[in-house]
Amino acid sequence: MISANPEAPKLKFEPMKYGGSLDHLEYVDVTPIIGREYTKARIRDILHADNSEEQLRDLAVIISERGVVFFRANQDDLSVDDLKKFTDLVGKLSGRPKENGLHVHPLYRDPGNIPMGNGETDENIYVINSEAAKALYKTMAGKGSKEPKDLRREWHSDATFEECPSDFSCLMMEETPASGGDTLWCSGYEIYDRISPPMREFLDGLTATCAQPVFKSACTAGNYDVMSPRGSPLNVGDKFAPVHPVIRTNRQTGWKSVFAGVGLHVTQINGLYDYEDKMIRDYIMRLITQNHDCIARMHWTKGAAAIWNNSCVWHAATPDTHLVADGVRTGIRASSIGETPYLDPASTSRREALGIPN
Ligand SMILES: [Fe+2]
Repeated sequence: MISANPEAPKLKFEPMKYGGSLDHLEYVDVTPIIGREYTKARIRDILHADNSEEQLRDLAVIISERGVVFFRANQDDLSVDDLKKFTDLVGKLSGRPKENGLHVHPLYRDPGNIPMGNGETDENIYVINSEAAKALYKTMAGKGSKEPKDLRREWHSDATFEECPSDFSCLMMEETPASGGDTLWCSGYEIYDRISPPMREFLDGLTATCAQPVFKSACTAGNYDVMSPRGSPLNVGDKFAPVHPVIRTNRQTGWKSVFAGVGLHVTQINGLYDYEDKMIRDYIMRLITQNHDCIARMHWTKGAAAIWNNSCVWHAATPDTHLVADGVRTGIRASSIGETPYLDPASTSRREALGIPN
């Protein structure tokens, strides 16, 4: 795999290096820019290999460089505990803060939450269900809008509403619709590389508030308490309004990525007038929608899984499963909680670090 330029200024965290322990696995890169698909690999085999720590650390490097990794084979031998352990270890072995663990969804106590396929619930597992999503977010502001469908709002990075958002998320799809329900990931590294140097310098200095009031409103409406803490001693309470850098350094690679400049949980670019805030967020969204070569798309097959690094990709679900008769889509997701997002002044863009011309 790629290694960082040895002459680069010293970074806050030494970039991770790939050690070669996954070379035996068959794969294809989804696009030149983002994504890798392991065609036959089983997560359980990686987890239970003699050199599992080495493989999991190497996998963290690959996920962080490629943004997202797909496991195409049916992972039907992967237990819920193994999915949790896998996600937790990828985060832990990549150097996440020692006190952190798996995210706990704020609305775990919601009586309307749908259990996993085995009928159980788990505070570290978020059940992605096409039907439940409609009910859970009914308190969200702006619902019932008469505007035509606008799927730009689907783009987000997991748990950006927390002081310490998620580093790695792993989603395994248990039930797939007859068609539809694809998930897309967009490279924040490459989007940053497509911005002009003066504009990058401006964006480097910005922060965004990521307020997500839907959690408090859902708890109030349902008369239950929000979960706390949520995977980090810093993820507590019901405020859900952290301030994050618009441009973030990925801890594992040391490369800059556009992070909190756009997305479902981003509510305000700080210090700007309202029209400037809108202009910046529209600009970054336009970069995403106009550069679909920065996007990897997963058409889910039963038991397939994806694991991604939230600090360098956004992702978006495709809410089109209502258009088919057999349209239920159910998956289980575990998310590791990483560090407080930061921008390291010594970090560079991915193309700069690798010497790839724009
Ligand atoms: Fe998500």
